Amino acid sequence: TFVVGENCIKCKHTDCVEVCPVDCFYEGPNFLVIHPDECIDCALCEPECPVDAIFSEDEVPADQEAFIELNAELAETWPNITEKKDPPEDHEEWDGVEGKLKLLER
Ligand code: SF4
Ligand code: F3S
Repeated sequence: TFVVGENCIKCKHTDCVEVCPVDCFYEGPNFLVIHPDECIDCALCEPECPVDAIFSEDEVPADQEAFIELNAELAETWPNITEKKDPPEDHEEWDGVEGKLKLLER
């Protein structure tokens, strides 16, 4: 499965959702997740993210391993998203900022 990692938080470009053949992205207030049971491992979304926030599960950086469980958990409660929307106005300020996990809104 593929996993959305920390750099999506407060960047949320949503380019990823447009290419997913099984529509398995779910949207929270400032982050997106992939449903691990629905993802078919096609890898199409990974290069679409302008801030490189998407990883194959076995390539998730060691300091972001919590995001594997977080994607699974939040995909159960957040609504599905299949169409791109504008990113937050201040998205550029947050690209690459470390420690964004504490800013995740549920
Ligand atoms: Fe969707 Fe493919 Fe990305 Fe999985 S790897 S979330 S199926 S686009
Ligand atoms: Fe997030 Fe990148 Fe998709 S910022 S919403 S994973 S395109």
